[in-house]
Amino acid sequence: MVRTQFTPQDIGKINRSVLSRYAKVAGGAWRKLFRYPTGKDGMDGLGYDKALTSALPGDVAATYCGVSHLFASAPVPLGGKILDIGCGAGVDTILAARLAGPEGASAGVDMTPEMIALAAANARKSGATNVSFSRASAESLPFPDQCFDTVISNGVFNLVPDKQKALAEAWRVLRPGGRLAIADQILSDESPRDVDTMTAHWGR
Ligand SMILES: C[S@@+](CC[C@H](N)C(=O)[O-])C[C@H]1O[C@@H](n2cnc3c(N)ncnc32)[C@H](O)[C@@H]1O
Repeated sequence: MVRTQFTPQDIGKINRSVLSRYAKVAGGAWRKLFRYPTGKDGMDGLGYDKALTSALPGDVAATYCGVSHLFASAPVPLGGKILDIGCGAGVDTILAARLAGPEGASAGVDMTPEMIALAAANARKSGATNVSFSRASAESLPFPDQCFDTVISNGVFNLVPDKQKALAEAWRVLRPGGRLAIADQILSDESPRDVDTMTAHWGR
C-alpha cells in the first residue's frame, strides 16, 4: 500500500473537513451530502438481509451511509466481539450486536462527536444493550491487542489521512484467525493534488 504523504497542515484540514461534514450529516443533511443511496434504500440495494434491517426503527435505518454489505464477507460469529471503525450513526454496529446475540457484543468508534451521540441514541431506540460507542480515530484505537473476532469499516478509509496506520491498528486489535472487512469508494480519475480541492469533492 502506498503511504500518502500529507503535511501536518493538510492532516489538520482533512480532519477539520471530516468533523464539519459529519456534524452536518448527523444533524440531518443525509440526502444533501451523499450522491449514493443511503438509509434503508442503500441497505436494500447492497443486499442486506431484509429480515434484519426491517427490525430497525425507520429513523435509525435512515441514518445508514455505508457502501457495502460487509457481513457477507465477514460473518459475525454468535457470541463474538465485533469492532466497527468509523461507525457513523452505528447502524452496522447495532446489526452486528444483533447477529452476535446476547453472549456477544459490538463496539463502534468514530472521530465525530455528533455521530457518536447519534449512534448511542440509535442503539437506545433499537433496544440494543450489547453495544458501546466511543470517540476515537481509526489511526489510534483505544483497545488492547487481539480482542475482536471481526473488525469492519464501511466507507471510512478514504477519509483517513494515514491509511497504513489505520490498517495496522485494525490488524492489531483483531484476534488471530479473525475476519477483517473494509469497503470504500474509489476514485477512477486522478486524485486532486491539493487538499482543499480534494475535500471539496468528497461525496461526488
Ligand atoms: C460515510 S460515513 C460511514 C459511517 C458508517 N460506517 C456507515 O456505514 O453508516 C464515514 C464516517 O467515518 C468517520 N471518520 C472519518 N475519518 C475518520 C477517522 N480518521 N477516524 C474515525 N472515524 C472517521 C466520519 O466521522 C463518518 O462518521
